[in-house]
Parts: sequence; structure tokens; C-alpha cells
Amino acid sequence: MIAPSLLSADFARLAEEANVAPSADWLHVDVMDGHFVPNLTLGLPVVQSLMKYTNIPVDCHLMIEDPDRWAIGYAEAGSYNVTVHAEAAHNPVKLAKDLRAAGAKAGLSIKPKTPLEPWVEVLRHYDTLLVMSVEPGFGGQAFIPEVLDKVRTARRLVDTGHLRVLVQIDGGINADTIEAAAEAGVDCFVAGSAVYGADDPALAVESLRAQARACTGR
Ligand code: DX5
Ligand code: ZN
Repeated sequence: MIAPSLLSADFARLAEEANVAPSADWLHVDVMDGHFVPNLTLGLPVVQSLMKYTNIPVDCHLMIEDPDRWAIGYAEAGSYNVTVHAEAAHNPVKLAKDLRAAGAKAGLSIKPKTPLEPWVEVLRHYDTLLVMSVEPGFGGQAFIPEVLDKVRTARRLVDTGHLRVLVQIDGGINADTIEAAAEAGVDCFVAGSAVYGADDPALAVESLRAQARACTGR
């Protein structure tokens, strides 16, 4: 699966930009609050409006403090998947239950330096694991290959039936890095600059997907 990240789109034309790649599996929306990360993007009113202009399932990545208080609104707005950060959540198990009760898939994200092991039990309550492959906050940063060890571990836990999460990666995914991530076991690739920075974003999505498929046979 390929999830273009709107962070690299033209924010003055979001409705149009949301639909530049019709074959996108999810539309990744980065919500940043200027506290959990040193950048500010958009919030719930923009997501609510965006929902009216796209049929692509919306994947909200909340890089915010106190997601226990704010995440539910994004689920109620009709997001397909809502991801919160393990480093920010106060009660991640309750949060996952609340997100699911509101009709969304629940996602848990870990920053590059956050280990996976302490979160494995909590992840039993989640649908998605988002492994950050850059420090969250900005698009266009270089991929951190060391995080692939966590992807391999997560893949093994899923393949052996210990976890049932979809494994997602976010940050620095492009034609040069997607194969290593695919080989490590990623199911869903977020790509911002590699899609919106391309001359033909729709083609970029197709070609990233083809590359990932070719090296995993999936
Ligand atoms: C970074 C965001 C990413 C970002 C990825 O904090 O979570 O979703 O858009 O951008 P690229 O693909 O350019 O690294
Ligand atoms: Zn993101």
C-alpha cells in the first residue's frame, strides 16, 4: 500500500492535491501541534473539510501532545485510520478502544529512537504500527535505515500470529529506499516529497508500488 503524505502538497489547494494520485491506498495527513514536534500544520477543521473532497481513505498521523483528548475527533470526522504517538499517549490502550468505538482503525507510532519491545503488549489493541524513519516534524528528510530492525521484529510478530497490526513506515521513502523497507516487511509506505515532488504524482505512486511489489513478490 502507498499513502501519499499531504505534508508535501500545496496547502492552498488541499482538496485538489488530495486527489492527484487516484490509486493511492490511503491519504496520509500529518497533524502537528508545534509542541510534540517543532512544526505546525493543520487540525481537525481542515480534516473535516477535506473529507468532503476525497474518497481515498484518510490516514491521520497525529504528532500532537495529549492525543487522549484530541484523537477521537479525527475518528468521529470519518478518518479511516488514526495514529497517535506512543511517546505522547497517556493511556494508549483506552485510546485504541475509543478510536475503534468511534469507527476508525487505531494506529500507534514510534519515533526512530523509541524501542519497539515495550510497546508490543499495547499493540495487541491496535490495528496499525507506524515506524517513523525520520524524526517527526518535517518532510524531505533522509531515511534512517536503523529503524528497519524494528520493522523486521514487527513483521516477525505479525507473521507468527503474536500481533495483528499493519506495518507502516513514514519518512524518507522514495525510489532509493522503498526496496529495503519492503524487504524488511513493511505493508504500507508513506511518501510525501517522493509523490508531491514528482512531475507526475499519480505515476510516482504506481511506480513506488511496483518497486515494493517486485522485491517482495506480494
Ligand atoms: C514527517 C511526516 C511525514 C512526512 C514524510 O514528520 O510524518 O509523513 O510527510 O515526508 P517525506 O516522505 O518527504 O519524508
Ligand atoms: Zn506522517
